[in-house]
Amino acid sequence: SIVHCEDYAAPDHNVESIHLTFDLVPNQTTVTARMIVIPKDDRKSDDFVLYRDDVSMTYLKIGGKDSLPGQYAFVADKLIIHDISEPTEIEIQTRINPRTNLQLSGLYMSRNNYITQCEAEGFRRIMYFPDRPDVLAKYRVVIHAPKDYKALLSNGNLMEQGELLDGRNYAIWDDPFPKPSYLFALVAGNFVAQEETIKLANGKEALLQIWTEPSNQGKTDFAMQSLIKAIRWDEERFGLNLDLDRFMIVATDDFNMGAMENKGLNIFNSKCVLADSRIATDEDFARIESVIAHEYFHNWTGDRVTCRDWFQLSLKEGLTVFREQEFAADMLGTPSARAVKRIQDVRYLRTNQFPEDAGPMAHPIRPESYRQIDNFYTTTVYEKGAEVVRMYQTLFGKEGFRRGLLEYINRFDGTAATCSDFLTAMEESNGEDLSQFELWYSQAGTPRVSVSSKWDENEKTLTLTLHQSNRSFPGRAAPKPLLIPVSIGILGDDGKDIELQLQGEDNPDGTTRTLLFDQQEQTWVFENINSRPILSIGRGYSAPVIFDIEYTKDQLAFLARNDSDLFNRAEAFDRLTLLMIDQYILDLQKKGPNQGRDHIPVSEAYLFTFEDILNDESLSPAYRAELLKFPDENYIAEHRILIEPALVREVSDQIRKKIGTRLRATLEDKVQKMATPGAYRPNPIDAGKRALKHVCLGYLAFADNPKAIQQIRALYKTANNLTDQLAALKISVEASLPIAQELLNMAEIEWQREPLLMNKWLTLHSRLRHSREQRTVVEKIHALTLHGSYQPKNPNCIYSLLYAFFRSGGPEFHRPDGMGYQLWVNSVLSTDQFNPQVAARLARVLENWRRYEPSLSRMMYKALRFVNSHRELSPDVREIIENALYEP
Ligand code: ARG
Ligand code: ZN
Repeated sequence: SIVHCEDYAAPDHNVESIHLTFDLVPNQTTVTARMIVIPKDDRKSDDFVLYRDDVSMTYLKIGGKDSLPGQYAFVADKLIIHDISEPTEIEIQTRINPRTNLQLSGLYMSRNNYITQCEAEGFRRIMYFPDRPDVLAKYRVVIHAPKDYKALLSNGNLMEQGELLDGRNYAIWDDPFPKPSYLFALVAGNFVAQEETIKLANGKEALLQIWTEPSNQGKTDFAMQSLIKAIRWDEERFGLNLDLDRFMIVATDDFNMGAMENKGLNIFNSKCVLADSRIATDEDFARIESVIAHEYFHNWTGDRVTCRDWFQLSLKEGLTVFREQEFAADMLGTPSARAVKRIQDVRYLRTNQFPEDAGPMAHPIRPESYRQIDNFYTTTVYEKGAEVVRMYQTLFGKEGFRRGLLEYINRFDGTAATCSDFLTAMEESNGEDLSQFELWYSQAGTPRVSVSSKWDENEKTLTLTLHQSNRSFPGRAAPKPLLIPVSIGILGDDGKDIELQLQGEDNPDGTTRTLLFDQQEQTWVFENINSRPILSIGRGYSAPVIFDIEYTKDQLAFLARNDSDLFNRAEAFDRLTLLMIDQYILDLQKKGPNQGRDHIPVSEAYLFTFEDILNDESLSPAYRAELLKFPDENYIAEHRILIEPALVREVSDQIRKKIGTRLRATLEDKVQKMATPGAYRPNPIDAGKRALKHVCLGYLAFADNPKAIQQIRALYKTANNLTDQLAALKISVEASLPIAQELLNMAEIEWQREPLLMNKWLTLHSRLRHSREQRTVVEKIHALTLHGSYQPKNPNCIYSLLYAFFRSGGPEFHRPDGMGYQLWVNSVLSTDQFNPQVAARLARVLENWRRYEPSLSRMMYKALRFVNSHRELSPDVREIIENALYEP
């Protein structure tokens, strides 16, 4: 059934408190719940509504007495208890089976440990409850568990723990803060903790713990340091303190997503916590720091102030992603490093969110309807949501943003709020009217802003005209113009920024300013422009839009060398690269199949600019690496009208080869200069050097440079860190070097005892290239599902092998004989048997089938139809497939 945002109705009853007792038994856990239910004065009905999913009831007591048949009814997925017209104690006991819970939603087992995941609707798989985010209750939890279970954890404060008369262990937890059921958590098992006590800014002490299975002891130092940094940052930037005596993190290998912000007891996928130089790359270190911070920041933006309903998901997620991004940038410090982070985030948005917004799953950051809320934990809600939050800061400045955020928290602390509440707090505390800005919450699609400008040499003016267009959806009102903050600068012919003097204003006002673009079309005139200007548009990526602007290649090369805005400097080079690729494709398409297809030159001007940037010592290595690494095939595909994976591959490989050949000397020189001798340190400077070294080695490898191949082999063998090792493997596999198989074999032996490493090993195979003699890559991937390290029910394994392969976007998956799609069909259907959430993620891979070349598109359509013809699909997968087929 479909849920609509506009149908929201507040609950008729509150739950004041709930006492839960868990008797943990693998296939028959008993959950006893006693709750105090309070009817609301303005209620519409005396029926108290509880949800259920896969639980069975052993008894129900109402007001202390055994219930009678007429007092309650089961209606579909609900239990309705009638006549609750005064405060009533309700006691329910349920039986659940954590052992067979392979959906990993509710209470489930990871090996012999108990873990919960309740967001979004997992609590109803534990017990009957008004499992909706606007019902906030106080929890007290009693856990009974076998003797050898050392860790018995839940939210809040530990009140008591000890041994029961029968020899089992127990613990009692009390959470002082009312919370919705999705933030409930329980963990029980054989875990050990790294702990630290810190003093908070408000003078209180807090105990921090990171719990892992004993085999992972010693891999949590970095996560602990990240947590402390996150706590400090929220104190300093927003004056927000940790509000509990104890803050716990638990790592588990069996988890559907990255991590979860349960109050006081965050649960993490181990790949987002565990790190040391042997098992984590520079990128992993950076991601772990961000995810730890993200979940910690939810304590205020998510837990203390939560969401009224799931349509408001971006209220907590968009906001928390933005906070996480700001934190990560502050940890980096230097402008150049911050720019790198921003470039990466924007690339991620373009590669993942833009296609979503252009496809059948397009939805506003505040969706209007859904069948399965789990399908809406999307890049739109998270990353575009974060861009929308960023725009408040662009509009009001850091101080204004802080004021608005604190106002929001003060107003809504302890309650369940909406996106409009956030907007209202922001506008009222900044004295602005944001009614037009609110359209960002209700309009889907990536807005396009076309930019035209005219320099009047005599008047010395530059006239800038912006025009916006927004995607329209059938059956909906035509889109309205949005308020788009457009930050701009103007470069003179000396490459320096010009002071911006708007016509009608007395004085120039800086060299970057943010135009408030709120009409369909709007014009600004700048004065005192004495030489031919070049526009730098959307500095820092001031809004999540596509800027359509015609630059000549010379202008782009100029901007790539001179723009003072480091983000836009990268943008210019990015545009230049995409133009070069488009030109190359055109040239290639003019040739026949056997007509010297690799004799097309890469433009000399492009190579010049490339080399200049490579040599520019004023730019940090990390920044140069980010600019110069060849764009991902999916990124190239996303900017083309028709997606032709084989063509994109051919062109990418050829261009890389040519760059590697033509710029050999400079690339080799950089490989040498970027050495990072001594002990491994995952800091941004060393990481940047490694990144640039790997980028250069990559180009050289594509050019079959024998020296580079030796270096890559040596890099793998002598590395004192995983970053170098993995880079060596990636390059060898992608460039199909003769050493690839040898390195893969070595890694398999070295890594076999470490699941996180074996997942990376599996992922490497998604980069394998066709080759004549061997099995197809599809067959290889399929064969790997039988590998000893591949656990078929484990989400990380499925993502690492199958999802990575499907998402790689290469011609090994998009085969003309459809074998890749066959593997996709089988994977979606078999995964759906036990884990619909993961299956739905796999299913989304083909949703943009309409954009592919016709021969592939037809087969993708057939594959989708085939999946859809199955009667037993989960609602999760059904929603994805139907959307893909019948674009709603
Ligand atoms: N709230 C978590 C986060 O911080 C995501 C959990 C989503 N889980 C799910 N099954 N939908 O990103
Ligand atoms: Zn989150």
